[in-house]
Amino acid sequence: MEIRALGKSGIHVPVVGMGTWRTFDVSGMAAEKNARLIVNAAFEAGARLFDSSPMYGEAERLLGLSLEGRRDEALIATKIWAHALAEGQRQIERALVFFGGRVDVYQIHNLVSWREHLPVLEDLRTRGTVGAIGATHYSASAFGELRRVIETGRVSVIQIPYNPFERDVEREILPLAAERRIGVIVMRPFAEGRLMRSSPSAHELAPLRPFGVTTWAQALIKWVLSDERCHVTIPATSRPERMRENAGAGSPPWFDAEARAYVSRLAIA
Ligand SMILES: NC(=O)c1ccc[n+]([C@@H]2O[C@H](COP(=O)([O-])OP(=O)(O)OC[C@H]3O[C@@H](n4cnc5c(N)ncnc54)[C@H](OP(=O)(O)O)[C@@H]3O)[C@@H](O)[C@H]2O)c1
Repeated sequence: MEIRALGKSGIHVPVVGMGTWRTFDVSGMAAEKNARLIVNAAFEAGARLFDSSPMYGEAERLLGLSLEGRRDEALIATKIWAHALAEGQRQIERALVFFGGRVDVYQIHNLVSWREHLPVLEDLRTRGTVGAIGATHYSASAFGELRRVIETGRVSVIQIPYNPFERDVEREILPLAAERRIGVIVMRPFAEGRLMRSSPSAHELAPLRPFGVTTWAQALIKWVLSDERCHVTIPATSRPERMRENAGAGSPPWFDAEARAYVSRLAIA
């Protein structure tokens, strides 16, 4: 598994991490046991950046539980998702309990009230409670505002969607991120699972074998990570064996332009 610096944040991340939207918004003993198995599979496979948010219901709590005894091995990227400062403060207090008193990358979810939350996060970063500050948005309609946030120079990480179905970030966001040495976390490498509804045949995947890719999920992850402007991607899964499969795409050789174009064609076929 390759490790890359998350832009100028100085945080070194394995290139495959894990998301928790929906997959960790579950409760009950069986769900908790499964969450631990997924996290253990992630660690075994070398993936140790975990993304969450208070927007994802039980996810932060369950992730914290699943990391019991291993928090130091993990990098936590979670979020504030609040219109009001007081609610943001409550979310921070809860997250610090779940994650052993620190958050490695604290992001402003969907840019909600970002001007209000930035000073709070900057204060926490000064005190060493937060490693890096980020901003996220899932929709191309908000990329103009995301651009303005990047241009303030006050965030060192962004989280954006990027996959063969959603390429809007190629126009302005990725070039700007590269110019400013912003760390890029890629959400939705499978377009929320839409790209997994049908998989190319083994025959169609065969040309990708020299790149170490044996499954469609690995092809899509490698498609993202072969863009040098992207540092880590965070596929979500509810199955431990898929966590291992996804992490398997986190090492060179990376796709060249021709292999990337081939995967794009397979995706839209
Ligand atoms: N900031 C934001 O606005 C925002 C928005 C969306 C997402 N995110 C973050 O990004 C993360 C990832 O995005 P996402 O969860 O929307 O979508 P995704 O990772 O693109 O896709 C997840 C789906 O892919 C399936 N999957 C995972 N690995 C697979 C494999 N090897 N083979 C076949 N299917 C596989 C999962 O099903 P199974 O569970 O059955 O494996 C799940 O349904 C989220 O969990 C969240 O942390 C952030």
